[in-house]
Amino acid sequence: MTLTDNTPTRTAETSAPILDVLAERWSPRSFDQTAEVSETALTSALEAARWSASASNTQPWKFIVGRRGTPTFDLINENLMGFNQVWTPNASVLIVNIAEVVDEDGKPRRWGTYDLGQAVANLTVQAHADGLHVHQMGGIEVEGLRAAFDLGERWEPVTVTALGVVAPADRLADEKTRAREVAPRVRKPLAEIVATA
Ligand SMILES: Cc1cc2nc3c(=O)[nH]c(=O)nc-3n(C[C@H](O)[C@H](O)[C@H](O)COP(=O)(O)O)c2cc1C
Repeated sequence: MTLTDNTPTRTAETSAPILDVLAERWSPRSFDQTAEVSETALTSALEAARWSASASNTQPWKFIVGRRGTPTFDLINENLMGFNQVWTPNASVLIVNIAEVVDEDGKPRRWGTYDLGQAVANLTVQAHADGLHVHQMGGIEVEGLRAAFDLGERWEPVTVTALGVVAPADRLADEKTRAREVAPRVRKPLAEIVATA
């Protein structure tokens, strides 16, 4: 799967050159409700997450993957907040990103959520390179997901990822969501976030 001439793009204006895949990645809410993600592309995205770095190589993550049209997808979707549910049904895949926050001996895993975030970032970049788009969500029902997938206390659902094929913004029914889809992409200037001696 590759990006086509009709793919909506929102490339970042960067103050220094960065990899194309990083500049071109963005988080749409308008997804093509007919698109299916190939098994190859989905596996590659998850494989990229698997090969992420983690503290002491603990790999404190798990992913629950549901394709649109399956009970797993519906269960994940039911446990998103309402402002996400207005656009998530058209995603091809929903993934619950879960961190191991307490180890087998009951000790807190200090970097569990950090490592999970890095793994999801890897997944995102791989998916984008394969012509897909990703939208991460923190607006989730943590306890609902924990109960729905019987995760126990050591494992914490941190975010849900929507994965699919981007569609034009005007396909979004919700007006507020449509406006957000085309709003300028902004970042703090480098000088504000970097201290150099
Ligand atoms: C941890 C995390 C939680 C987020 N939660 C939500 C969310 O619940 N709903 C949503 O629409 N977007 C959510 N986003 C997407 C961000 O709003 C988006 O990444 C940010 O505005 C930057 O836009 P860009 O990804 O297009 O560069 C989340 C992103 C991250 C990384």
